[in-house]
Amino acid sequence: MKKILGANIARYRKEIGLTQRELAERLNISCQAVSKWENGQTAPDLYLLPSIAELLHVSTDRLMGCFHRFDPVNDYESRYNTDEYYWGVKPSYMCLKILELLPPDRSLSVLDIGCGEGKDAVFLARCGYRVSAFDATEIGVEKTKRLA
Ligand SMILES: C[S@@+](CC[C@H](N)C(=O)[O-])C[C@H]1O[C@@H](n2cnc3c(N)ncnc32)[C@H](O)[C@@H]1O
Repeated sequence: MKKILGANIARYRKEIGLTQRELAERLNISCQAVSKWENGQTAPDLYLLPSIAELLHVSTDRLMGCFHRFDPVNDYESRYNTDEYYWGVKPSYMCLKILELLPPDRSLSVLDIGCGEGKDAVFLARCGYRVSAFDATEIGVEKTKRLA
């Protein structure tokens, strides 16, 4: 991690044409400290990271080399981006349990958080529950409406 961070500091510093001395001056630290970070000998104090990131015009994530992390919303968007229903259109077992334990009644409300493409929300609404559903993906919400 120390090496990645140091290499990123050097990379983004050079990209914006800042010398080690200039970066050090703006952070109010010694030039040797910056040099040691970039060589991977030491790492900056945690509290300095936001200032370094701001000066280098990158996020702290990017500075730490974490920008390839799994992005759940984009991942689901791409799974849903076909005419097929990725999770199918049959309700899950949980819906059958709800039917069994709390038989449908207009006074019963269901909140489906992360409804995906809506198979459960639409099924439960058809059964007679008052259903509210939402999903982080636009395409999921769109397909839920289509299914309804
Ligand atoms: C495993 S899928 C399940 C979809 C659906 N419940 C089903 O069984 O078909 C999880 C869903 O949660 C959604 N999701 C994840 N985080 C969310 C958040 N913070 N707010 C709303 N939806 C979210 C994802 O977009 C994804 O569609």
